Amino acid sequence: MRISITSLVLLTAGLYRVAAIEALHSATVNSNGEDRTLTPQNSYGGWVNPEDLTPMPQCIAQQDQSTWLSTMTKCTGKRCTRHFGFICTHQQWLTELNCLSTGFSSDVIEGYLPYCNRSVLAKAQLYLWIRKITGRTWLVDLGDANGLQNLSPAALAEGYAAVDVIYSAPSCLTRSVSALSMEPFQHIIASCSFTSTTQHTGNAARPWEYRESLRSMIALDFETVGYNLTGHTIRYGDYFDKECFCSTFTIDLKEEPCSELGHLDWTKERLWMNATCGPTSLPDNWTDRLKTTEFAYIPTEDWHWPMCVADMPKQVNELTRQCATDACELDPSGYCNVRHAVDRACFCRNISYDSCGGSCHIFETRIDYIKWLHDLCGNVQDWHGLPDNWRQLAAPTPLDMIPWRWALKPFKDSNIAYITRLESVGTTETCASNEWKLGSFVLVNIATFLAAFLSQRIGMHRIARDSLWHPHSWGWFFKGTFIAALQLLANWFNTFLVQETPGYEDVPVLQLILLWCSMPRLAWLPILWVCVQPFEAMNFSASASSLFAEMILQFLSSYYMVMTVNYGREHNFYFGVMEIAERWRPAKIMYAGALLWLIIICMALVQLLRAARKVNRLTVSGSLDLPKWQRGKQTTSNIAEELMAQLNERCTRLMEKLAYNWTDKSSSEETPLIINEGGDYTVYGTCSVEGRYKWVSRKAAVELYAATVISMLLLWIAQWLFWGGFIGLSSEEFCPPNLGALTAVWTAFSLAGAIVGAT
Ligand SMILES: *[C@@H]1O[C@H](CO)[C@@H](O)[C@H](O)[C@H]1NC(C)=O
Ligand SMILES: *[C@@H]1O[C@H](CO)[C@@H](O)[C@H](O)[C@H]1NC(C)=O
Ligand SMILES: *[C@@H]1O[C@H](CO)[C@@H](O)[C@H](O)[C@H]1NC(C)=O
Ligand SMILES: *[C@@H]1O[C@H](CO)[C@@H](O)[C@H](O)[C@H]1NC(C)=O
Ligand SMILES: *[C@@H]1O[C@H](CO)[C@@H](O)[C@H](O)[C@H]1NC(C)=O
Repeated sequence: MRISITSLVLLTAGLYRVAAIEALHSATVNSNGEDRTLTPQNSYGGWVNPEDLTPMPQCIAQQDQSTWLSTMTKCTGKRCTRHFGFICTHQQWLTELNCLSTGFSSDVIEGYLPYCNRSVLAKAQLYLWIRKITGRTWLVDLGDANGLQNLSPAALAEGYAAVDVIYSAPSCLTRSVSALSMEPFQHIIASCSFTSTTQHTGNAARPWEYRESLRSMIALDFETVGYNLTGHTIRYGDYFDKECFCSTFTIDLKEEPCSELGHLDWTKERLWMNATCGPTSLPDNWTDRLKTTEFAYIPTEDWHWPMCVADMPKQVNELTRQCATDACELDPSGYCNVRHAVDRACFCRNISYDSCGGSCHIFETRIDYIKWLHDLCGNVQDWHGLPDNWRQLAAPTPLDMIPWRWALKPFKDSNIAYITRLESVGTTETCASNEWKLGSFVLVNIATFLAAFLSQRIGMHRIARDSLWHPHSWGWFFKGTFIAALQLLANWFNTFLVQETPGYEDVPVLQLILLWCSMPRLAWLPILWVCVQPFEAMNFSASASSLFAEMILQFLSSYYMVMTVNYGREHNFYFGVMEIAERWRPAKIMYAGALLWLIIICMALVQLLRAARKVNRLTVSGSLDLPKWQRGKQTTSNIAEELMAQLNERCTRLMEKLAYNWTDKSSSEETPLIINEGGDYTVYGTCSVEGRYKWVSRKAAVELYAATVISMLLLWIAQWLFWGGFIGLSSEEFCPPNLGALTAVWTAFSLAGAIVGAT
């Protein structure tokens, strides 16, 4: 349903006289009123047929028309229009034009002007009518029509609005009266309204008629004010002049039409007035307590829950329903568009950080929850629902960055072995400092180093006496297992020690043993000594057992390393921004260490497979496998490959020198293979196939050894990074008691392991 200006005008016209309504009843609406030709043709000596007169202007139709009609009636009389000789054959009611031009004097117009003066368009329409009928170029006073001849859109200083915006106004406003003039709202809208182009509201073909029964002229039609008076066109429709409306309609600021404070209608009214007449039509602080979706109310469609909504108590979930209400969403023109919404203040009043537990307090969902709460209620007055340290909680906490859920620290309540993250159980006992924790590892490493070094000295002599290492004896297997078992035993013993400490009863045994398996140790050191000795004197047995023990322990430590890398990947620690988190540096070191460890393990495995293949090929064919750098003088496609080839070449040459060194020392009677400076690889013709075979197999062994030693060293570094980072990160969460005793146990067992390895 659209408000038609016709009905508005008729409504107001009806207030004054029935004529217009009669006009509507008798009207046979003729839509092509444009065909109508006006006066001159049908002029009978200065008299015209009333239906040829210009229709009544809008602002007259909206007022009491009696003066207007009586003026016209006075100039209308029955005239003979057809003669036969002196006999009149046809009589007609005609209006005398001269009489009209004197009849519509300024006195008559003066009575109508205050109303017609409101809207510049209506005034212009009236002026055009007067000029046409009377030829006068002013209305009441000379010069009062200046500018009306050539109106421009700028004449509507405040612009215009479509009449449809009335639907955005609450009925308490549309039914109210202006505080200024006590005139009804609808009436003022009608007086200021206009259409896109001039419209006829009645019988356009017959705008006037002399009604004999009334003895008066009546209007059967009137013309609406058209915007095209300004020489411009706008979209078809009904509009009203804002300046006209706003200067006529005012609200009583003391007693607003929709004064029920906080009510939706009150908001609608103020928004409507602001959008139509600007903020000057309203009190200074009119925006206070408006029910708008700007901030105080959140449209239901825009409402969203945090990720941990499943863990929210029912009371909180119910809040959106309890705090639901209607609020105004501003449309582009600033009018109210009623939407379902949640009252922000109502919701926030009843929620705080602690309203929701469980996953709302855990890491990412906690961060999300805090952000959600802060966005929702952070700007609500007097809301203090977030804990004081919420900024820390909004970033990963150190506890979040520890990949496992248990902590090594005394528990007050021995039932909670697995702490819920973030709940920091106050540690009253002083925890050993981080330096001391790392220092104990250093001590164990130094002791192991010394033990390995000394036992190697002793072992070397014995080996020289004893037989060489037989690859098929299983001594290294048992010894390696034994050394690993010793280390595990040490870890178990220490776990036992920890468990015996009051407050630590519930420490998870297996977890702790496994974690300690990833400690950096120098137990692999014996393998390094192999390199610096002549080949034949090499204690392969010792190094093999150490290597095997190390492999077992590294396998066990993979549990935590892989867990860490995986946790870091899941929570985007490797690529995400961690800098906002507390203690992010040690965390970065720890995660880098774990990743490094994993990479080295993978590379070592690849290396091992390649070496195994090489040895396999060698034993199958017994043929001489020329080094790659020699065979591969083919085209290298890019720089990276070139670099790799170069690097490979360097390494190979180093290996060869080492191999040469050993071969030279151990079997000087055989013809050595000569490596000249230019890197040319010359196989002397005198060299026996057996010698070559021996040389190559040793070279493979050397490569494997070098790879192993480098991997071990890098793994050791990775483990230091991991533990260094972990200790820095966990701080109070990792608090081994009796650190001195633990260190002593490790040292003792490491010494034992080193000695066993060497014998
Ligand atoms: C008509 O309106 C103008 C302002 O729009 C005002 O200055 C003038 O006094 C008004 N005239 C009458 C007769 O009301
Ligand atoms: C406005 O439009 C009406 C109807 O189309 C037309 O009769 C009238 O002459 C136009 N007025 C002006 C000033 O263009
Ligand atoms: C009030 O109206 C003015 C301009 O008429 C507009 O800039 C402002 O945004 C409106 N205020 C509100 C709260 O709608
Ligand atoms: C506007 O401010 C005045 C005082 O400056 C105060 O008395 C009045 O209650 C306020 N109105 C609203 C709606 O907040
Ligand atoms: C909000 O909390 C207040 C007490 O703080 C209580 O009186 C009120 O009923 C609660 N509202 C809802 C909707 O739960």
